[in-house]
Amino acid sequence: MRVPLIAGNWKMNTTVGEAIKLVKEMLPRLDEIDGVEKVLCPPFVSLAALKELIKGSSIKLGAQNLYFEEKGAYTGEISPLMLANLCEFVIIGHSERRQYFGESGELIGKKVLAALKVGLKPILCIGERLEENEAGRTEEVVTEQLRSSLAEVKKLDGLTIAYEPVWAIGTGKAATGGQANETISLIRHFISQLYNRSVAQSLRILYGGSVTASNSSEFIKQPGIDGALVGGASLDAKQFLSIVKQTSEISQTR
Ligand code: 13P
Repeated sequence: MRVPLIAGNWKMNTTVGEAIKLVKEMLPRLDEIDGVEKVLCPPFVSLAALKELIKGSSIKLGAQNLYFEEKGAYTGEISPLMLANLCEFVIIGHSERRQYFGESGELIGKKVLAALKVGLKPILCIGERLEENEAGRTEEVVTEQLRSSLAEVKKLDGLTIAYEPVWAIGTGKAATGGQANETISLIRHFISQLYNRSVAQSLRILYGGSVTASNSSEFIKQPGIDGALVGGASLDAKQFLSIVKQTSEISQTR
């Protein structure tokens, strides 16, 4: 059984003070919800303060990026070692990193390896752009992204994949549950070819892209979808709590 995971990707939002306030707003109720892994991914600068705040709770933290080198002259970068005792998860290869910061599949692969090496759990993001979707190239694009990012990765233990179609991110135009489930099935099938069936069956694959409290159950109900990577709605305590609660209820009926 794959335990569902709901992660909030706060992106470049919240000052440290705002991050603390947001976590305080959801903390007691979020902590109580079981049967779901709950992960908050604030900006780097808030990780230390939030680590203190969530101590002793069931809430986990993730970073939104890292660099693959352990240390050195890489001005402005954050290393896996620096994150290893601050958080458990790290988002890697988000489409905004690919789009605005030119991250290639090869670079993303190095980041995945570097994260796994220090025991961080990568949430590897993949997804096709609108024109690729319209040209019927979704499967080709996501499998190529997986191939390049996992080329050197021997074991997927601890890794989660997030399927985030770029056209659904921040647009309010989510995929349908059926569409997302279909692509996620293709992804799982491809993973079983790259590794084996049991690796593919135990791998968590999330959906991301305009997930809200109103549409999250449509995704979570799908048999192949193991949770969500939530952007905008994760900055709203009520919505995020509702998404996690609905996920917990659905998972109990499985
Ligand atoms: P939105 O939920 O704001 O569309 O963002 C999705 C996302 O990019 C999560 O990583």
